[in-house]
Amino acid sequence: MRLPAEIEQRILELISMPDLNWKSARVHNKKLNRIRNQMYKLTDDFAQAIPSADKYSDAYFAYNFPMNFVKAMVLAKEVNCLYPQLFNNKDTIRILDIGCGEGAGMFGLYYGLKNSKKFVLTGIDTSTQMLKKCKNMTHSLKNKDACIRVKLRRQDVSHGLLKKKINKYNIVIFANVLAEIFTGDNIPVKFIERILKSTDDDGVIIIIEPAAKNLSRRLMDLRNEIIQKHKGYILLPCLHKNECPLYEIRKQKEWCHQSISWHSPVYMKIINQGLNREIDYLKFSYLVISKKDHRKRYDGCYSVISPLFREKGRKRCFLCTPAGRIELVRLNKLKTQANREFDRISKGDIISFENLVQTIPHYWRIAENTKVKITYRKNN
Ligand SMILES: C[S@@+](CC[C@H](N)C(=O)[O-])C[C@H]1O[C@@H](n2cnc3c(N)ncnc32)[C@H](O)[C@@H]1O
Repeated sequence: MRLPAEIEQRILELISMPDLNWKSARVHNKKLNRIRNQMYKLTDDFAQAIPSADKYSDAYFAYNFPMNFVKAMVLAKEVNCLYPQLFNNKDTIRILDIGCGEGAGMFGLYYGLKNSKKFVLTGIDTSTQMLKKCKNMTHSLKNKDACIRVKLRRQDVSHGLLKKKINKYNIVIFANVLAEIFTGDNIPVKFIERILKSTDDDGVIIIIEPAAKNLSRRLMDLRNEIIQKHKGYILLPCLHKNECPLYEIRKQKEWCHQSISWHSPVYMKIINQGLNREIDYLKFSYLVISKKDHRKRYDGCYSVISPLFREKGRKRCFLCTPAGRIELVRLNKLKTQANREFDRISKGDIISFENLVQTIPHYWRIAENTKVKITYRKNN
């Protein structure tokens, strides 16, 4: 997974280093150090829950925008692949990005879904500065693709009330914004209920949050409340509606989050010199909520919720199942043609089996005749 080349080039133009590469990096040292300093401040503020994306907007744009863009792109592909009925019969896809910032959410979704369809993207934000940056980003997209319309407006959406529209939204995305809108312990389910009223019958809300434990667990609470109060349907990341297996495990030390490897652009690697952040993985938590029950029966399919651990004599990982968290193990000596796909799995994949050995609860074994199939790869 990588950032589209034209988006990377546009970012470099907008941070005034269009020719940045390993050879030219020295020439840009002053600007690079300014961005690195802003990165420190952004991180400090994030740790204290102080919103400062617009204050340190160059650093946010150079560093967070591409990652948030690709996260949205990954999720658009996943939703489209696992729930194609949501968009198949639509000529125009209407996307609302609340707290759009520079538009990472809506532009990422657009790139993930882009085909012969038309797109109307609406971005809402309280920050004039961020909307201005979003507008700059928009120009390059509109020049390339006549099938896209972008509308931007300044509005505070903390109440969840949106103008009534004849053409409702197919997707409403909240990318890294709920932590700013709701600073308390929970995201009110009433807010989600209100937003769902602005989506069409096949509409979905996509929420992306940073992978931090408190924010991810808050999202897990929201998931549970939506299911318990019948306020919508969870399409992803959960393939079942039973209690989240990670919710109570290990005295609440676990939280459901994604960690997907990607090819970070060279310019990010240059900025990262001295910062040494882990930029090769996209970490986030997410929920896809639908208004109507579009859940498909993914019986016999399970999400991989850990990396594949390669240990002496065996490989293992953990699965999310309706019966809880399951440890799945294959001894190296039992590797066969039928189960060799197991070696390729990564966190976030959806897998299925034939002839699995399930003699002990919460501990499943792959035998020589077990057939392993990767039904969906998040990082494809
Ligand atoms: C961390 S940035 C995320 C930007 C973008 N969605 C992304 O993922 O890169 C949060 C954005 O939400 C905006 N925001 C915060 N509270 C808001 C509110 N109540 N209504 C609309 N936008 C809001 C901020 O101005 C900021 O641009």
